[in-house]
Amino acid sequence: MAKNITSVAAAHRITEKKLPKAIYSALYAGMEKGLTRDNNVLAFDELGVIPRVADLGNEHNQKTRVMGVDLSFPVITSCVGAQGICSEGEKLVAKATKKSGTAIALSNFATKAMEEVIQHNENLFFQLYWFGSKDDIQARVERARKAGAKGLIITLDWMMTFRKDWDSVTPPSEMNLATALSFAIPAITHPSWALDFVTKGMPKLTAPNAREAHDKKDPPFASVFPKMFGAKMPTWEDLQWLREIWGGSFMIKGIMHPDDALRAIDIGATAISVSNHGGNNIDSTPASIRALPAIAKAVNNQLDVCFDGGIRRGLDVVKAVALGAKAVLIGRAHLYGLAADGENGVHQVLEILRGGVHEGLLALGKPSIHDLVPEDVIAPEGFFLNKFPPTFQYLKK
Ligand SMILES: Cc1cc2nc3c(=O)[nH]c(=O)nc-3n(C[C@H](O)[C@H](O)[C@H](O)COP(=O)(O)O)c2cc1C
Repeated sequence: MAKNITSVAAAHRITEKKLPKAIYSALYAGMEKGLTRDNNVLAFDELGVIPRVADLGNEHNQKTRVMGVDLSFPVITSCVGAQGICSEGEKLVAKATKKSGTAIALSNFATKAMEEVIQHNENLFFQLYWFGSKDDIQARVERARKAGAKGLIITLDWMMTFRKDWDSVTPPSEMNLATALSFAIPAITHPSWALDFVTKGMPKLTAPNAREAHDKKDPPFASVFPKMFGAKMPTWEDLQWLREIWGGSFMIKGIMHPDDALRAIDIGATAISVSNHGGNNIDSTPASIRALPAIAKAVNNQLDVCFDGGIRRGLDVVKAVALGAKAVLIGRAHLYGLAADGENGVHQVLEILRGGVHEGLLALGKPSIHDLVPEDVIAPEGFFLNKFPPTFQYLKK
C-alpha cells in the first residue's frame, strides 16, 4: 500500500530505519566530518521570510524553463549514483518526475541504462564525469545524444577526495555467491528493503552508463571508481571541446566561485549549478546557498543558474529562486522518498516541495516564482560570500 509521506524529514526517518546501516551511510554521509553537508541544510535555517496578510492574489505560477525544457515547477531530481537502493531505482525516479511534470538528471553512475530510463521520462539530462580518454568521453556523449537526452551535465567537483570519517563501504566487484552472502545479514535485519530485491532481482552492481568506447559489457562499479579518482581534471579548453561535440544544452555542475561561472560563459555553457556536491567534495566548502547571490550577479542572466545543496522544503526552493536560481536540483530529498516508498515516495517528495513553494509565494504575496527577488530573503549580516579567493590561473591569462 502506498505510504503517505508528510515531509522530507519523515521520508528521511523511514529511510534511516529501512536501509542497512552501510547503505544508509553511503547515501547520507558527506566527505570527512560532514561539515559541508550539514552546513548546506543549516544555512537555510538562517534565512527568513516576512509573510504579508492581504492582497495576496489567487495565481501562484511555478512554471519555468531550464536548459530548453519546460518544467511545471522549479525542482529537478539531481543526478545521484545511488538510486540503486531500489532494484528499479532510476526508472521509478523517471516515472515520478514525469508525473510531476519535471525533469530527471541521470548520473553517469546510475545502475540503469540511459536508454531504459528515458522511456519513462523524455525530459532527461545525462550527467557525465570526466574520466577515460577523449574517445571514451565522446562515446558516452554520442550515446546520450542517440538516447535522446535533452541536455548534458558535466560534474566537476567530485574527483578530488574520497575521505570519509565513517567506515565507508567499498562496492563489491561482482554479484557472485560471496557478494550475495554478504547481503544476507542486512537482508534479514532489514526485510522491507530486501523484499524489493527478492521480488525484482538482485542488483547487478554495474554502471551501464560508464562504458568505455571498447567495452562490450557494462563495467562493474568497483572498476570505475579507480578510473575516476586517478583521472586528470579537464582544462577549460577540454570543457569547450566537450560543449562543442555535444552541441546542445550544456550544464557545468559544481560551481562555487564567480570566476568559474564566468569561464563557463566563455566556453559557451548554457547552464551552471551552484553546488558543492551536497557536501561530497572537499569538506569545509561553505554552504552553496552562501555563494549563490554573488555567482548569479556575476553571470547576469547570461546562462541558466541552477542550484543544489540542502534543499529539504518548498520554502528552501523559494529562497534559492529569490536569490538567483532558475531551478534547484534535489539530491538526498528525492533519495529519501525513493528509499521510503519507491516511485510514490519520490512523487510525494516532489509534491511536498511544490506545495511548499505555493505556500511561500502566497505568504510573500508573489504571483509567480519569476517575481521573487533577493530582498524577499532576510539574511544575517555576513551570511553571503562576497569575497572569493583570487584565481591563480585566471589572473595569469
Ligand atoms: C549518495 C549521493 C550520490 C551522488 N552521486 C552523484 C553523481 O553521481 N553525480 C553528480 O553529479 N552528483 C552526485 N551527487 C550530488 C547530487 O547530485 C547533488 O549535488 C547533492 O546531493 C545536492 O545536495 P542535497 O543532497 O543536500 O540535495 C550525489 C549525492 C549523493 C548524496
